[in-house]
Amino acid sequence: MSKVIISPSILSADFANLERDIKKVEKAGADWLHIDVMDGHFVPNITIGVPVTASIKQVSSIPLDVHLMIENPEKYIEPFAKAGADIITFHYEAAKENTSDIIKLIHSFKIKAGLSIKPKTSPEEILKYLPELDMVLIMTVEPGFGGQKFMPECAEKIPVIKKHAPGSMIIQVDGGINAETARVCTQYGANSLVAGNYIYKSENIENAILSLR
Ligand code: DX5
Ligand code: ZN
Repeated sequence: MSKVIISPSILSADFANLERDIKKVEKAGADWLHIDVMDGHFVPNITIGVPVTASIKQVSSIPLDVHLMIENPEKYIEPFAKAGADIITFHYEAAKENTSDIIKLIHSFKIKAGLSIKPKTSPEEILKYLPELDMVLIMTVEPGFGGQKFMPECAEKIPVIKKHAPGSMIIQVDGGINAETARVCTQYGANSLVAGNYIYKSENIENAILSLR
């Protein structure tokens, strides 16, 4: 079985010491850096944008996993790709019939394309896009904030996606992931885990990352 990709969410980092906190998770064995982009419309919170992402690129040495929780994602693919994103994930609920076009746009920058679904969206709605995608991100909390409680019913979508996806598909989960909920998700077939609070609030970040694998 191939390795699980661990992507710490810097939403739980200290934004006044972002470089320090990025280095911390890199040294502790993180595979990717998860960057949560929120616009105050698609979700009721505002976080990181293009300029901060470009600055993060300057000080990080692992792939940037950019999670767009924004309306009109098509407008921001090029800016985030140019800022240094290695994976761009957008929400099906914000894209709907534009989904295929946005996937193509992301691929035109020679980076990976991910599609995410919120807790109330059924996995069947996105099955037809699986052959075009590199990654599916199944939200296990309502997007908008770190530190929320894992919704176990969302993890039941993992096998549905896995059954229909090509073998190379990355199936990522995000929200309320800790050592216990990570096991539930990997047993269902997830091979990438996002974790914010569990990693950044732990006393030993290296052990926290190891405990997720
Ligand atoms: C939630 C974000 C998550 C969040 C995860 O909207 O997409 O990436 O930061 O944080 P935890 O792991 O604390 O639930
Ligand atoms: Zn996220």
